[in-house]
Amino acid sequence: MCGIVGYIGGSNAVNAVVEGLHRLEYRGYDSAGITFLEDRELKTIKDKGRVAHLVDMIPPEIFSEVAIGHTRWATHGKPSHENAHPHHDCGGTISVVHNGIIENYILLKELLIKEGHKFVSETDTEVIAHLIEKYYEGSIVLEQAVKMAIDSLEGTYGLVVLSSKEPDKIIAARRASPIILGVGDKENFVASDATAIVKYTKKIIYLEDGELAVLTRNDIRIFNQRNIKVDKKISSITWDEKHTSKDGYPHFMLKEIHEQPGSFHNTLAGHIDAEEGTAHLGGMDNLFPGNSIHRIRRIVILGCGTSWHAGLLGEYYLERLTGIPTEVEYASEFRYRTPSIDEDTFVIALSQSGETADTMAAIKEAKNRGAKVFGIVNVIGSSVSREVNQGLYIHVGPEIGVASTKAFLSQAAALFLIALYIGRKKIVSYKEGMEYIAELEKLEDKLRAVLAGTEKKVKELAEKYASYPSFLYLGRGLNFPIALEGALKLKEISYIHAEGYPAGEMKHGPIALIDKNFPAFFVAPGDEIFEKSLSNIQEIKARDGKIIILTDEGSVIPEKLADDIIRIPATIEVFYPFLEIIPLQLFAYYIAVKKDRDVDKPRNLAKSVTVE
Ligand code: F6R
Repeated sequence: MCGIVGYIGGSNAVNAVVEGLHRLEYRGYDSAGITFLEDRELKTIKDKGRVAHLVDMIPPEIFSEVAIGHTRWATHGKPSHENAHPHHDCGGTISVVHNGIIENYILLKELLIKEGHKFVSETDTEVIAHLIEKYYEGSIVLEQAVKMAIDSLEGTYGLVVLSSKEPDKIIAARRASPIILGVGDKENFVASDATAIVKYTKKIIYLEDGELAVLTRNDIRIFNQRNIKVDKKISSITWDEKHTSKDGYPHFMLKEIHEQPGSFHNTLAGHIDAEEGTAHLGGMDNLFPGNSIHRIRRIVILGCGTSWHAGLLGEYYLERLTGIPTEVEYASEFRYRTPSIDEDTFVIALSQSGETADTMAAIKEAKNRGAKVFGIVNVIGSSVSREVNQGLYIHVGPEIGVASTKAFLSQAAALFLIALYIGRKKIVSYKEGMEYIAELEKLEDKLRAVLAGTEKKVKELAEKYASYPSFLYLGRGLNFPIALEGALKLKEISYIHAEGYPAGEMKHGPIALIDKNFPAFFVAPGDEIFEKSLSNIQEIKARDGKIIILTDEGSVIPEKLADDIIRIPATIEVFYPFLEIIPLQLFAYYIAVKKDRDVDKPRNLAKSVTVE
């Protein structure tokens, strides 16, 4: 989704901002733009299309010590030169880049037009530039004008402002849309996402809602909502550069699929209690001191997209290991129902990016109703990680491919740890706990074996099946969320229609779709419902459907039942999803490659969905 980057200091700001924009490309966008200073005036270059196209338009000899840039993901107005950011006031002396949505922009625009302001775009952002212009007069300095302007705004913003009248400063402000500040040596940075500036500095300040920052090359001053100067902690980000390169792989997605044995290891690191057959979770100890865990009457899991699918696995784990009624809710729907949440409800919020606006809104709603909220998050210091009461980082490193892969596996693993932690205090015996731990410890190797043992075969199958227009993904029990996630991966990156369905539900409707042109991908390991899955496969076979079966190495599949079989190592029932997801990710990946899709940046999608 939209990305922001800004630089002020002694080096060429244009280069730093362009580099940052390239690094933000993974978020998904349709236009890009930059404002810098040329002969004491603001010069803006912007257009729809890729950052590479923007770079072609920037004269190579340009040198400016201050610049702001943006990648836009259209919300108000189609992708075009006019709608691309930065936006300006009438006089062209103020330049604004903005993430988020200004809800009262129509009203503000009408008022400003009546006052004589001229608008050139369809965006909500342009009103901010004109509002600043309105207040920026006499002895008012830029930060004061920005403050007056944002006080009139309803909605969300992460915004950065530059003025040719005071080119020695950049102003940044935030309400519900992330802004981070990068602290350098005689230079400072601002961005919507640390990825944009990690090459230059690892020292980061997180702006909180309501705060406004004034950046010069030598210092950063931050003011709270009441205009009082605040001292902020400087955090260090630990990412290393390797995480943001493809490391020899053709795409980030393939690299991230291959990283899974290591990222899974990182998620578990420090959380396994092999003495007691349980999980060490400091955040859970803090959230539920003493015996208070026994007060939980209900568990609600919140998330969107792939995180919601991981939540479905969590539902199985929590109900099975704790006996506590558990539900998974789409975060985007949660606020618009009347959720029955109280102080005895334990809420778990899942978000890779930690910036998903729907998930943030749902967390706030749950907290308002008295629930304790525990976050499972990847991006350190992200909005979700700061909003929840306690949490757990999955530590998978930056996930750059828009389609989530390694985060899904680790979210599922984290949910299992929580289920085991609560379960051991309730219904899981020591012996059972030890069995889970023993198998968990073998999974890293099994994940490696899945990658080594299935990739070649899956690639061949992708070649064979790439021309089919639709796919069904089917599974029962714990395999159903994997079917959903496999279907989501395929549609996201290959643009092939795919549906995930509980295999037992087929006969209640979707079986009508089956014919020889509609392949069904069954996720059916040798678990306790394997025989029932085989019956569902027979139902498809009897209707001439093409069948691919993903199963374990020991399960016997009747002869001629499947057109193709992919086999993974055997594990215990609860852990099959961890192994199953890899071939499904690879299948989607290789089909997308075969169809020549933009795998890491699929059309219309954004990595970090910061609008509701
Ligand atoms: C799918 C995908 C999305 C995200 C969803 C939530 O591959 O990446 O469906 O899972 O937008 O994002 P997070 O987890 O960042 O809250």
